Amino acid sequence: MVIAIVNGPNLNLLGDREKNIYGDMTFEDYLDLLKARYKQIEFKYKQSNVEGELVSLLQECDKDSDGIILNAAAYTHTSVAIADTIAAISTPVIEVHISNIVSREGFRHTSLIAPNCSGTIFGFGIEGYALAVEAFATKIL
Ligand code: DQA
Repeated sequence: MVIAIVNGPNLNLLGDREKNIYGDMTFEDYLDLLKARYKQIEFKYKQSNVEGELVSLLQECDKDSDGIILNAAAYTHTSVAIADTIAAISTPVIEVHISNIVSREGFRHTSLIAPNCSGTIFGFGIEGYALAVEAFATKIL
């Protein structure tokens, strides 16, 4: 099973960025943990700060992945383009957020991408990614 993890803007700063909200681990270190836990899964990891690049990355992942885990970060709340891409591709997408987006500012309560995703996981810290991997690994989708 090949799982692609696609992270959006500012998630390259994990480990440094607002540690009280997002924790102190870099995504690269967390990915090593995931790979050690799920040896049977091949992980691909992509990150971009650019909306159009995320569209292209999702289209590419559609060709070579069995599942996509997407944290679109701030674009979650604004991007019709990314929502359309998720609708257009056939690979299932699980939306993940590290923080509890509904306990934060009002503009974070709306996800434009959620209706087109298989499901959404938020509020469990960085381990939300593992919960999404688990959903694919146990084939509940
Ligand atoms: C985030 C939540 C978003 O509202 C925010 O813009 C992010 C990260 C999260 O993982 O909690 O950059 O997606």
